[in-house]
Amino acid sequence: MSSHSEIKRVTVPQLVACKGQRKIVALTAHNYSTARIIDEYVDFILIGDSTAMVAYGLPDTLTITVEQIAQHTAAVVKATQHACVVADMPFGSYQESPVQAFRNAAYLLGKGATAVKLEGGVVMAETVRYLVDRGIPVMAHVGLMPQYVNTMGGYLAQGRSPEAAARILAEAQALEQAGAFAIVLEGVAEALGETITAALAIPTIGIGASVKCDGQILVTEDMLGLSGERVPKFVKRYANLEEMMRSSVQRYAEEVRTSQFPEPQHCFGIKRT
Ligand code: KIV
Repeated sequence: MSSHSEIKRVTVPQLVACKGQRKIVALTAHNYSTARIIDEYVDFILIGDSTAMVAYGLPDTLTITVEQIAQHTAAVVKATQHACVVADMPFGSYQESPVQAFRNAAYLLGKGATAVKLEGGVVMAETVRYLVDRGIPVMAHVGLMPQYVNTMGGYLAQGRSPEAAARILAEAQALEQAGAFAIVLEGVAEALGETITAALAIPTIGIGASVKCDGQILVTEDMLGLSGERVPKFVKRYANLEEMMRSSVQRYAEEVRTSQFPEPQHCFGIKRT
């Protein structure tokens, strides 16, 4: 048997075992530099389809391709040693059939991801079962599902009526039954986040859900202040890196224009032989 890699990442069973024991911390990343820095602080890193918006400036998450997510996944895997790496399945890469989903999920695992995430409720249960039975751990995603933006008519909080809440709870239960190892609850009524967390044996990962969820995820650019002024209500800004970048680049530009940079310590002397 060939020797196994030295890297010891958080595993899927370890994430599942966090339920009721300790909070799961997660962030998104799509590039080497960011993933390298956040790795030691989080339990898993998601290469989200939000990469479409934060890395490519696209208006929504719908047009990123599985090839693009695969490239970003490879960069994140290369940069990290600790966090479990979860790759988002882009719109159109899994909805057609379980076979299509398996082909694309296997491609993403081939780039080093440990698990995939996909959006959808009961309609995705068969696909989740198909993937899990063939060795692909699946994180589900219900509530506000950005890939349904055109059906929802915007990015609207979900589960705010008793009927809608009951439907989302049933979707979450169906996905758990199908074998999902965790479930993202995005943009749902706080009470529903709490109810689903109590009802499921798998961890819930909240984003705009409830502090009672088993874990939390944010888009890194949102929480670091790198994604412009308009962010969803559920984002807390922990830094304003845009301001820091602007002032740093402004200083750099001034110093170059006034010949203050580079200084002697940034230059190479002649080697004497
Ligand atoms: O694409 C993404 O970043 C996500 C998270 C916000 C959960 O799906």
